[in-house]
Amino acid sequence: MKIISSIDELRDQLRGQLRTAFVPTMGNLHEGHLSLMRLARRHGDPIVASIFVNRLQFGPNEDFDKYPRTFQADVDKLEKEGVYVLFAPTEKDLYPEPQEFRVRPPDDLGDILEGEFRPGFFAGVTTVVLKLLSCVQPSVAVFGKKDYQQLMIVHNMCKQFALPTKIIAAETYRAEDGLALSSRNVYLSSQERAEAPVLFQTLNAVSNAVRDGHSLLPDLERNAMRTLADRGWQPDYVSIRKRVNLLPPSADDLVQGTPLVVLTAAKLGGTRLIDNLEI
Ligand code: PAJ
Repeated sequence: MKIISSIDELRDQLRGQLRTAFVPTMGNLHEGHLSLMRLARRHGDPIVASIFVNRLQFGPNEDFDKYPRTFQADVDKLEKEGVYVLFAPTEKDLYPEPQEFRVRPPDDLGDILEGEFRPGFFAGVTTVVLKLLSCVQPSVAVFGKKDYQQLMIVHNMCKQFALPTKIIAAETYRAEDGLALSSRNVYLSSQERAEAPVLFQTLNAVSNAVRDGHSLLPDLERNAMRTLADRGWQPDYVSIRKRVNLLPPSADDLVQGTPLVVLTAAKLGGTRLIDNLEI
């Protein structure tokens, strides 16, 4: 595997490749990330991965400085997955001058759910993703459903800018007890780690209630929030939305069986976890 930090060298290395499959990450790789590498392999060749902790998508009080950085362990894992190039730019490589041109996602998608609680987050994500896509020029790029809203925003950005990259969605990879794998899980104490699967259990309970025909969705959402709060979580939201645009479903949508997804974000101690489940 070639480890490349400069944009020019990356371009030289990938020149003439027409079927590159790309998996962008922020490192501290776990099985969830590796499942994306395996999916990428089914959709293209060579596989290019990136590791870059993108300052633009972190709020002033978020964990940019203490975000787990485990570069050598990550390299070993990617080698085993047959990744051809690891693009690991420094901040100077990717942002040699202040990144003044930014992507601004539409408010109705970028400012709801995660965007409401993390102002500017999706502008930071889309700006770096557009730049990474411009560097790698892949024919496909893989994103996880774990970050459902991110996947949708990136997908819509590529479509609206007519980028020549197809976005592929990977299913959420979970631990045996249901907890979605996340780089931030390393922040959990052993007690918190034992409690953490309750988030996915809560999503399942909401999903089952909707499938059973409960149509008072705000009540379901409120009850789920209360269950979490009673167990010591600080939930930001539990929200049932339409898969197509993440807007709240109407009564008609429920009658017609419009595909739905339930999304949540909640803090457990100092760690903010997100998860979602297609209903
Ligand atoms: P990161 O959190 O490192 O995630 C990289 C990719 O792995 C994302 O597409 C994410 O959805 C996916 N992923 C994470 N955990 C997963 C799991 N348990 N199952 C399946 N996929 C999972 O998301 C980012 O980095 C950044 O925002 C990035 C897109 C790299 C832009 O900076």
